[in-house]
Amino acid sequence: MKGQILISDSLSAESIKEGLKTERFGQEVTYLPSTASTNLVAKKHAQQGAPEGSLIITDYQTQGRGRLERRWWSPPGENLLFSLIFRPPFKITHTFRLTVVSSLAVAETIRQETGLEASIKWPNDVYIKGKKVSGILSELGVKDEQLQYVTVGIGINVNSNPSINPEIQDIATSISMELGQSFPRLRLLKVILELIEHYYHLLKKGDFSSLKKTWDSLSLIKGKRVTVVSGGHLQEGIAESIDKEGFLILRNYSGRRSRIISADVSLSLV
Ligand code: BTN
Repeated sequence: MKGQILISDSLSAESIKEGLKTERFGQEVTYLPSTASTNLVAKKHAQQGAPEGSLIITDYQTQGRGRLERRWWSPPGENLLFSLIFRPPFKITHTFRLTVVSSLAVAETIRQETGLEASIKWPNDVYIKGKKVSGILSELGVKDEQLQYVTVGIGINVNSNPSINPEIQDIATSISMELGQSFPRLRLLKVILELIEHYYHLLKKGDFSSLKKTWDSLSLIKGKRVTVVSGGHLQEGIAESIDKEGFLILRNYSGRRSRIISADVSLSLV
């Protein structure tokens, strides 16, 4: 079963929109069998005025990108690779909250639909049993110091087998690897779009406390000892929670709190 594409699981604008319970997210779909990177296509569409909620999705990326210029590995037709266009009414400094919204939606969907214990590892990863199953790459479009759009690119290892790739075999997993059988991508995608719309709505209403509560319950690192590396600088402490901007609150071992804006976080061994 593993690695096989389900016939009913083929991606198209029609199959995605069928039965989708959203107002905006995923109602405008661009499906490309293959492309360099959905984030690049989303950026172009956003610059041409595509509406909020537009979805760009593909079966294969030739230049799939991760954070910090890393490559995003995904064999053809096995996983979810998509980008969404947001036009948030926020200040530029608040846009990181969209990564919070998206990671919540991904982790919660995986839990709800597969029963697997997915957790969020700040800033933008979703993990199952200590291995990464999904990553998020958000990019901003700014003009005259005003935020024009944000493209949120989401990659989820659904039916791939990361153990065949020596570069990621020790750190990555997929839903099918964890379940022992393949899983329909369309089902996951629709629930993710619905939850993103729901959480984004809460965010725009100013209800960050509901988001924070869910984030706390799904966090892999909350209350744990972590090592935080940012710009070559290393800090250790307890990961407390996130603040209103979605930044991490770290309490060091002398009790001093700091806000972590961007970093690689790992669980400390002791
Ligand atoms: C990361 O973990 O570093 C982020 C990975 C983001 C990958 C997704 S796949 C869809 C979209 N297009 C890209 O080129 N990257 C994102």
